[in-house]
Amino acid sequence: MRKNIVAGNWKMNTTLPEGLALAKEVNDAVMACRPNCDVIICVPFTHLASIDHVIDSTKLGLGAENCADHKSGAYTGEVSAAMVASTGAKYVILGHSERRQYYGEVSAILRDKVALALENGLTPIFCIGEVLEEREAGKQNEVVKSQLVEGLFNLSKDEFAKIIIAYEPVWAIGTGKTATADQAEEIHAFIRSAIAEKYGKEIAENTSILYGGSCKPSNAAELFAKPNVDGGLIGGASLKCEDFMGIVKAF
Ligand code: 13P
Repeated sequence: MRKNIVAGNWKMNTTLPEGLALAKEVNDAVMACRPNCDVIICVPFTHLASIDHVIDSTKLGLGAENCADHKSGAYTGEVSAAMVASTGAKYVILGHSERRQYYGEVSAILRDKVALALENGLTPIFCIGEVLEEREAGKQNEVVKSQLVEGLFNLSKDEFAKIIIAYEPVWAIGTGKTATADQAEEIHAFIRSAIAEKYGKEIAENTSILYGGSCKPSNAAELFAKPNVDGGLIGGASLKCEDFMGIVKAF
């Protein structure tokens, strides 16, 4: 059966000392509460190796927020999937709407990133989601389906089985405006049906689909109670241990 997962996305926040302190705090809290879900923190590249040394990675997963679309070489400032894997990280967020929107990450680039992540043993947390105008025009299903088809449906069954999906409606990210649990359930069910159509029911049933967008301790339990919502990808609330753990404990 698929896993329930709560993953933090720290985005461009915390200096290294601040990040180390937060990671230690989250690690201790996870050890103390024995959560009913997998817990992951995705952190800036600069923090990965140091954080890997201070957490128990069998209890708290570690991931990057991005990786390069090339293997190695003359790409100044880029960080490859192999480099990420060499820090001890096991996950990588790919296709976040902020990367798509601000850094021009189109599906062709994301396909290369996904392939390199998988080649290096990293589990991609692949983000999809519509913007407000698309939601208002009733096009959300169409949008997420094309993001799946273009970004992931080139993968073999075995490869796709390693992917975690995060549905993040762009209008809910950092806005305080959460999708209702019913809205989340409806589109998560649609995403699962699109996966089933392509890869079969078994793979679809085993794929974890996380919700992201203004998820907090006060709304997590209602969202996670929905049968097709398998956890959350948490931005702002992952920067405070108490809030993050409040979401973890919603399971
Ligand atoms: P917020 O939880 O801050 O809305 O961010 C969600 C997100 O983008 C996680 O990747």
